Amino acid sequence: MFSALLLTGLAINAQAQQDFPEDIKPLVNKYACSACHKVDARLVGPAYKDVAKKKYSNEKIVELIGAPKPSNWPGYPPMAALKVPKEDAMKLATWINSLAGGGKAKSKKG
Ligand code: HEC
Repeated sequence: MFSALLLTGLAINAQAQQDFPEDIKPLVNKYACSACHKVDARLVGPAYKDVAKKKYSNEKIVELIGAPKPSNWPGYPPMAALKVPKEDAMKLATWINSLAGGGKAKSKKG
């Protein structure tokens, strides 16, 4: 009976921190984004939820991955520019913006 309680507690704990979704995980591992970013907590870089709050367009995020602007994040070390193929960068950008919750990402195709 105690162990059942303990397990319940652990399960709740594990859910408190948001993890990368299954379709995003392979990408953040491949490009090592996850070494510096978490979904909802500061690591080396800002939480992706906080990036989402900046309300960049998806295109802008793709641009920033290839050419970060450290001046956007005072108090953080600069992020190194990363070579991520456009298609993957766009997937990451779209997902980051989806974290804003309620924010309607304008999708300009092209
Ligand atoms: C070595 C650590 C590191 C890695 C790896 C890393 N980041 Fe970052 N990232 C940072 C830091 C630090 C910042 C804040 C300072 C800055 O923007 O330069 C940041 C900022 C950002 C921003 C906000 C840019 C802005 O100007 O607002 C985005 C978006 C981002 N990272 C996405 C990614 C993605 C996607 C990957 C993987 C392809 C990645 N990062 C990999 C450290 C990292």
